[in-house]
Amino acid sequence: MTFSDQILCFATRNQGKIKEIGALLPPHLVLKSLDEIGCFEELEETTDTLEGNSLQKAAYVWEKYQCNCFADDSGLFIDALAGRPGVHSAYYAGEPRSYERNVALVLEEMKNETHRNAHFKTVITCIIAGNVHQFTGILEGKIIHTPQGSNGFGYDPIFLPKGYTQTLAEISPAEKNKISHRSLAFSQMKNFLHS
Ligand code: IMP
Repeated sequence: MTFSDQILCFATRNQGKIKEIGALLPPHLVLKSLDEIGCFEELEETTDTLEGNSLQKAAYVWEKYQCNCFADDSGLFIDALAGRPGVHSAYYAGEPRSYERNVALVLEEMKNETHRNAHFKTVITCIIAGNVHQFTGILEGKIIHTPQGSNGFGYDPIFLPKGYTQTLAEISPAEKNKISHRSLAFSQMKNFLHS
């Protein structure tokens, strides 16, 4: 099957992300999930960079389904831990995956560190008519000592964005959306798709 130029597949199974991004896209584009283009297999993320993983997922969809698409990958990079958990952020404390255990492991590894700078990073790879475009969003901040707040997900309770006195889990979702690594990368892609 060949897909029309108007169709853009988001190579994810996260319904929350699909909903959020659908609202941001230019009206001439129709956003489809993986299932909606007939892709039911699990997409591999086996490289050691966000750039590589997002490209791996988008390239799979383009090559197999010839459908314009994009894929994202994000992670938390902590200076004192040589960039860990980085590309392994989702399963840093191993299986079964748990946000609480990941946060606990980071706090344990950081307990004697005074240099607490870190950043979140998102890379989106978008493939249009076979041409690859990458967009990056970064949010700088610090790792605090004790989790605070209950909004958001993942490492939000221990991440204090630069210039803020509350963690990502204490500010509102709307406020987080204004500054987040993911929003920054998506807004770059949106500008590119509009142009
Ligand atoms: P994904 O590529 O968006 O699925 O993100 C991979 C992992 O990075 C997530 O499972 C989280 O552990 C972490 N992460 C990514 N973005 C955020 C965020 O905005 N807040 C907290 N943790 C995040």
